[in-house]
Amino acid sequence: MSAISIPMADAVRTPALPDAPRAEGARPPLALWIESLSVSFDGFKALDDVTLTFEKGELRCLIGPNGAGKTTLMDCITGKTRPDSGAVYLENRDTDLTRLSEVRIAQLGIGRKFQRPTVFEGHTVYENCELALAGKKGVFRTLFARLTAAERARIDEVLELIGLRDAAKRQAGLLAHGQKQWLEIGMLLAQSPTVLLVDEPIAGMTHAETERTAELLTGLAGTHTVVVVEHDMEFVRSIARRVTVLHQGKVLADGPMAQIQKDPRVIEVYLGD
Ligand SMILES: Nc1ncnc2c1ncn2[C@@H]1O[C@H](COP(=O)(O)OP(=O)(O)OP(=O)(O)O)[C@@H](O)[C@H]1O
Ligand SMILES: [Mg+2]
Repeated sequence: MSAISIPMADAVRTPALPDAPRAEGARPPLALWIESLSVSFDGFKALDDVTLTFEKGELRCLIGPNGAGKTTLMDCITGKTRPDSGAVYLENRDTDLTRLSEVRIAQLGIGRKFQRPTVFEGHTVYENCELALAGKKGVFRTLFARLTAAERARIDEVLELIGLRDAAKRQAGLLAHGQKQWLEIGMLLAQSPTVLLVDEPIAGMTHAETERTAELLTGLAGTHTVVVVEHDMEFVRSIARRVTVLHQGKVLADGPMAQIQKDPRVIEVYLGD
């Protein structure tokens, strides 16, 4: 297979992309491979030939000005939006996710956290996790069908992770804003995703909730590939290893946070002075 052309190759400094979806070697295996993705809305290019890879277990921050295409990229990965061209591969599989349904993509292991929490307010924290598992299994109609011991263990593990074990019997509607956000992350985790896409997780959170969220997300990296979109640069600095900057639907820069912060083009279009 021929090498994939990298758009704006001079802008994408490190690291070099492997030369085929199956390429492995010294580099860690890939969790997600986005190839030449383009999307237009009424002639406006929201994504313009975006090629990006995400390694297994990495935590990546995706930043850029309003309208840069960050949410649209997540929409394409999760099947909410069909791109005009390009492909998305999961774990080097042959299957192009852009041809699959949202439900199928979720079942394959991509979890998406939207900005506003969408928990079932009338149900308890524990029930919310049960519902998330049931939804994954496609048995949503038979609410609270018996869970296996392994599934119960998974929910306990998740409640511990998101710090809501003591709140398991609380009605979700009564939780604080930050707790609802963590519960939604927990509902995704209950489904054991390999990739977690998180769009603006700390909007509306208190300082303490923000710190806890940083711990949660960095703790999930390693066992999950975590992609975080966030405008709060203090938060991004606190969690970021590698950062990708989108601008006008293109990858403007990609590299370690320290390098991105010094990049004159990133400062010009986004970080300011
Ligand atoms: N469904 C849609 N129909 C029409 N235009 C859309 C649609 N979704 C996104 N857009 C446009 O595509 C561009 C990229 O939007 P997107 O929401 O991906 O940006 P973003 O980087 O997430 O911005 P923000 O930081 O404000 O959330 C914007 O100009 C937006 O108006
Ligand atoms: Mg957005």
